[in-house]
Parts: sequence; C-alpha cells; structure tokens
Amino acid sequence: MKYKNPIEIESSYIENDLGRTLYDLVLKYKPKKIVEFGILYGYSTVAMAMALDEIGDGHIYANDLFEDYAFKHSTTQEVQENINRYGLEKYVTLGKKNFDEWLKQPEDFDFLHVDVSNKGDTVERLYDAVKNQVARGAIVVFEGGSDERDNVEWMIRYNSKKIRSTNIPFEVIDPRFPSLSQITCKK
Ligand SMILES: C[S@@+](CC[C@H](N)C(=O)[O-])C[C@H]1O[C@@H](n2cnc3c(N)ncnc32)[C@H](O)[C@@H]1O
Repeated sequence: MKYKNPIEIESSYIENDLGRTLYDLVLKYKPKKIVEFGILYGYSTVAMAMALDEIGDGHIYANDLFEDYAFKHSTTQEVQENINRYGLEKYVTLGKKNFDEWLKQPEDFDFLHVDVSNKGDTVERLYDAVKNQVARGAIVVFEGGSDERDNVEWMIRYNSKKIRSTNIPFEVIDPRFPSLSQITCKK
C-alpha cells in the first residue's frame, strides 16, 4: 500500500507526518518482526503496517497498557477498528503488555518502536535491555530526542530527566516535533 498520512487517527505524529518517516524506515530495513510499545489509537502502528503491506511480508506485535494506563489511552477495540479500516489486520497483533515488564526479558525483534511517554530514564532502561540486539543489527527507534521534545510542558512539570541529558548513543533521525530517534552502537 502506498503511504497516506492516517490523519483521522489522533496522534502527535500527525502534524509533521512522522508516519511517513516510520513508513520509510520499515521500507528501508524490511523487518520481519516489528515490536511496538505505545499504540494509543494506532497511528504509528497503521503507518508501519502500510509499509509491511507494500513489502508484502512481516508482522507487528503492538503492545500497550490500554485501560491500565492512568493518562491518555485507548482500548484494543478502538485500535483494531482503525487497523481494520485500512485492511491491515493481517500485519498486526495487538497485545496488552507492560513495557517495564518486557524490558526484564526482551524478546528478539528486527525493529522496535517505543512511544510510551518517553523520558530520559525510559531511554536508559531501553538501551540497557536492547543494546546486544542493536549490536547484532536490530533497529530501535523511539519517540523524542530533540531539544524541543525534551522541553514540552509535562516534562518540565514532572521534572522528568531529559532524553538529551542521558549518555545513551542515539541519533535524531527526524527532528520535526515530536521527533524520532534511533539508538546507535556505543563507540
Ligand atoms: C504517546 S502515546 C503513543 C502514541 C502512538 N505511538 C501514536 O502513534 O500516536 C503513549 C502510549 O503509551 C502507553 N503506555 C504508557 N506506558 C506504558 C507501559 N509501561 N507499557 C505499555 N504501554 C504504555 C499509553 O497507554 C499510551 O497509549
């Protein structure tokens, strides 16, 4: 399927069409197994599934806390409806899983997208858990990494550790708000 910004699926990624960036990354790396944490209404999931459909192969295991998340969240039903509307159901399996639990024993993946209201400590814990997979060539992309994203109102209100103040090796691959970054190998 050719890419189309799924603008009716509410997301902070819509404004700068970061779905296109995720779509292009999936086309570039052609991962067989994508794992995602942080679905909300499914914008990023749909954007990546469009690329799998274009390739004709691969699967996304997309996870969220859904109703167990105290802040803005969705339901499996809402997300599944959004996926079905694009005819992408064969590329996506939804799961109710806690990212913090997953980090204790991360499964193997080819491509990981993390968007769980990321803060500096999220990225630190992520790096520790997946650095061996990154070293063997797996791709890890996370929401944030720009200075603008580090200074959003809620990061300041909660006095959250800034992603840019960590020592984690990453590269901002799309600086447009809210930005997307990729974990790199430590030199
Ligand atoms: C910013 S939204 C994700 C946006 C989505 N990627 C998009 O394209 O619009 C953050 C999501 O992370 C989920 N979340 C927060 N903490 C989580 C955790 N520890 N484990 C799994 N999901 C979590 C929330 O339920 C929420 O749906």
